[in-house]
Amino acid sequence: MTLMKLFPTPVEMVPLERLYLNHNLRAVRDPSRAFVYTNFIASLDGRIALECPRTGTAVVPGEIANPRDWRLFEELAAQADVLLTTGRYMRQLARGDAQAILPLSEEPAYQDLRDWRRAQGLAAQPAVVVLSASLDIPLMEPLIGRHGRVYIATGSDVDAARIGAIEAQGARVIVAGQGRRVRGQALIEALRGEGLNLIYSTAGPKVLATLLSDRVLDRLYLTQVHRVLGSESYDTLVEGQRLYPPADVQLHSLYYDAPGEASPGQLFASYAVTPL
Ligand SMILES: NC(=O)c1ccc[n+]([C@@H]2O[C@H](COP(=O)([O-])OP(=O)(O)OC[C@H]3O[C@@H](n4cnc5c(N)ncnc54)[C@H](OP(=O)(O)O)[C@@H]3O)[C@@H](O)[C@H]2O)c1
Repeated sequence: MTLMKLFPTPVEMVPLERLYLNHNLRAVRDPSRAFVYTNFIASLDGRIALECPRTGTAVVPGEIANPRDWRLFEELAAQADVLLTTGRYMRQLARGDAQAILPLSEEPAYQDLRDWRRAQGLAAQPAVVVLSASLDIPLMEPLIGRHGRVYIATGSDVDAARIGAIEAQGARVIVAGQGRRVRGQALIEALRGEGLNLIYSTAGPKVLATLLSDRVLDRLYLTQVHRVLGSESYDTLVEGQRLYPPADVQLHSLYYDAPGEASPGQLFASYAVTPL
């Protein structure tokens, strides 16, 4: 399982396994601040999710999801102190419509990643933060059972009774923003206060908009599958207000995964977000 590394040069063949583990995020980050990263897979025409005809909810289309990309998604998760997810994902999980449970996977193929975490002295699973304005969040018990530390992040417009009800289930509430929405900087500061410094967003376009507009994202991992999907109803990378100024990024790494029997080929790119 090899790929062609195109950037940084020299161009050379590299193994897929450990590709993103070798980015070594825990070692390269500035210890005086958090490191926030995210990962998306998109079609050539920029679709990250399409409506599933069976359930009517948006999911990552099977035409682009693939095990090689998933391996890298898991390698990024293995390095995290905490995963960001959303109330919407929790509702999808409760209905049985979610694409997968949150990493780290317990499949044998990912045993090396679980071993890697243990060798680093990390908890078996990263902690989880669920961002939610609605606080309509079902199914917390299995999540707490698996990940241990679970936080619900919301805005200040939340009443004490609701906080009490959530905390009675074993999750902690983080108030990080005014009104009902979470603000990126307040969230990252609160997580640092909990000793959670490697922050991996597995969430979608609204959370990416929050992280970019509040200028807290450090790195974007983006897989671009060489396939055009079309469709009138779709999600793309960012959803929210126009960014003023726009967020610029610099290419950090680029790998070419050549077409195979089941795959049209794809590019694995990562970008460093340029600070203002
Ligand atoms: N292709 C990919 O790589 C990829 C990656 C991630 C997600 N996706 C897809 O993108 C779609 C949306 O995913 P998603 O729900 O994870 O992400 P999202 O669009 O970023 O977030 C949606 C939900 O998160 C909560 N939320 C987001 N930002 C918030 C903020 N600033 N403050 C408070 N709450 C906030 C809200 O929950 P409440 O409704 O509970 O208030 C909102 O409904 C899905 O179809 C998913 O499959 C694709």
